[in-house]
Amino acid sequence: MSEIYKNPSYTPIERTNDLLSKMTLEEKIGQMCIVDGRKDPETWIYKKHVGSLLHVTGDKVIKLQKMASKTRLGIPILFGIDAVHGHAFQSGATVFPSQLGMSSSWNPELLEKIAHITAIEVTLTGLHWTFSPVLCIGRDLRWGRIDETFGEDPYLIGILASAMIRGYQGKNLSDPYSILACAKHFIAYGETQGGRDSSESDVSERKLRSIFLPPFVEAIKAGCATFMAGYNAIDGIPCSANKWLLTNLLKEELNFNGFVVTDWDNVGNLHRKQKVAPNIKKACEIALSAGNDMIMSTPEFFEEAVKLVKEGIIKEDLIDKACRRILMLKFKLGLFDNKRFPNSKKAISILGCKEHRKIAYKSALESIVLLKNENNILPLSKEIKRIALIGPNCNDVQAQLGDWSFGARELEHPEIPTLDYHPEYDTSPIVTILEGMKKRAGNDIIINYEKGCDIIDKNNHNINKAVEIAKKSDVVIAVVGDTNILNGELRDRVELNLTGAQQQLLTALKETGKPLIVVLINGKPLTIPWIKENADAILEAWNPGLEGGNALASIIFGDFNPCGKLTISFPRHIGQQPVFYNQLPGWHSNRYVEMSAEPLFPFGFGLSYTNYEYSNLQVSSTKLKPTDKLTVSVDVHNTGKYDGTEIVQLYINDIYSSVTTPIKELKGFKRINLKAGEKKRVNITIPVSSLTLINSECKSIVEPGEFEIMIGSSSMDKDLLKIVVEVI
Ligand code: BGC
Repeated sequence: MSEIYKNPSYTPIERTNDLLSKMTLEEKIGQMCIVDGRKDPETWIYKKHVGSLLHVTGDKVIKLQKMASKTRLGIPILFGIDAVHGHAFQSGATVFPSQLGMSSSWNPELLEKIAHITAIEVTLTGLHWTFSPVLCIGRDLRWGRIDETFGEDPYLIGILASAMIRGYQGKNLSDPYSILACAKHFIAYGETQGGRDSSESDVSERKLRSIFLPPFVEAIKAGCATFMAGYNAIDGIPCSANKWLLTNLLKEELNFNGFVVTDWDNVGNLHRKQKVAPNIKKACEIALSAGNDMIMSTPEFFEEAVKLVKEGIIKEDLIDKACRRILMLKFKLGLFDNKRFPNSKKAISILGCKEHRKIAYKSALESIVLLKNENNILPLSKEIKRIALIGPNCNDVQAQLGDWSFGARELEHPEIPTLDYHPEYDTSPIVTILEGMKKRAGNDIIINYEKGCDIIDKNNHNINKAVEIAKKSDVVIAVVGDTNILNGELRDRVELNLTGAQQQLLTALKETGKPLIVVLINGKPLTIPWIKENADAILEAWNPGLEGGNALASIIFGDFNPCGKLTISFPRHIGQQPVFYNQLPGWHSNRYVEMSAEPLFPFGFGLSYTNYEYSNLQVSSTKLKPTDKLTVSVDVHNTGKYDGTEIVQLYINDIYSSVTTPIKELKGFKRINLKAGEKKRVNITIPVSSLTLINSECKSIVEPGEFEIMIGSSSMDKDLLKIVVEVI
């Protein structure tokens, strides 16, 4: 038997062809399976030739990979994990802000670094593939998984997701620190009914191509190795049963050449939940015909797929095609030549190391959004000597780390053991706000802490004690929000008000008459009109990760000038849902009977300790051909006392078009640093070809006519300078 596939001097294609020619049907179908590595992995390796395992950590990785190398062909296992904001299921690893948090930085270079660090930490623990980034559009805030998104704008999601993909995968997959990225969940999974996870997405092909597809197109351009099919159905067809979606659109039209993995038991659920297949065998047939390459956690798939081919219902060629895509990536990753075993010694010194924590700190700083700052109460003046630090999220590690992190409920499934805890790695303490504030305050300033109330239990509170402390202080910092049990998969909500006795606590603190600064630690925007009205300052910190406490203290004391901007709109009331900025034009007034339809805080909004003035808007030309580029220029002047970073945003509106188009669409942005008093000319260039719409024939075109160009500091009209150009 020649051993071309074992010989690194051959190309991945030659090696894949050689290996495929040697594989039995069972071996090929085994490669198409990914199962939970905590449940009987031995049988899966020896009897079912499994291609990939997920959720395995520690030395087990070595043990299982060695087992695989003893099988007939010795095909290495691809180990996957949800390392979505750092390798956060691994004790001791660096936990970054949640995806929604990091998106508020509008900083692709930073996200690329975060992903690169994650790749290093994942690789050192012997794993090869992360189920990240999430490209879902976050619109209905009742949906439990809003914290996992980059917010509500398709353009920004595309930019940030591509940056993370580059960070995970590096220049080349053969780089020993690169891992496979996975763009998920394909497609329109966030477009829920009533916020209910995994429900039907009511999306036409035109809407799909206008809003939901563009970020995934960017992911393909960035070379994303894998895509995950969503749980949802679109127009009656579950994503994993949708041949048009997975084969015609993704693989043929968009030329995606990686592999498609289903989400957890998507195939079993074609039968069990979505009921488009009368039995599992039919479900497997549908999924194979649709173009899924790897099947996650549908154990029956192995036996059923073998039967389907042997009975002539599915052609072996289809299996070969799927298996080829998987093997190609294993070869490209170099898994056959270097098993990429965990390097425990190195992992101990690198996971959560100083350098990585620095980036976690920077990302927490840049993800925090200043929503209000009456009378410039922040940063705290030097006169302040006594601070009352009150609230259930002052010292809640889980709220601070967020979902998909060590100890989070993904791993609390009753039937499966939790991921192993590895104390040897755990050198990486999590700094809560309480700890961060105490450290930064030093001996001169007294911090008096009281939890005040529980985040869930209304009756469990100590508001009187909190009020006593507040009365004796110069300022009150209340840290409220939500926590992990209110966010994530299976955690959809019917309201977004503060839970437990948090509102009572805030009301009582306000009544003390002391200045009230509210810090929000939460997975997603909450409905906080009372806070907007009554707090002197508001800092939205999301789930800021393990350096969150240090970052908040730096901002509160003025070591860092906040620069985050919202990537998702805050509603005033749950009944306004969805309240995203890029709405289609309405006809009647922009009001409900009870209140305005405007968001409480809109997309793109975020204050600074300084002020920026925009003036002198110019465009390179007001008459443009579709092949031209348009440069938009504006002066931005830092008129305040602090140096700062401003995120300059460029929106367009296609004034008259053959179909309705959004009232505003983000098309570009630039982060600029400005010293106090400094003025800079900012140029943003966009190709005219990006002014597309999807017409009634579902074609992407730029229609001639007038476009309004808007540039400024948020998506609000009052923050934008405007000019009209014409495409001829
Ligand atoms: C989630 C995916 C995740 C997968 C593996 C599913 O329930 O929807 O986002 O990657 O589990 O953990």
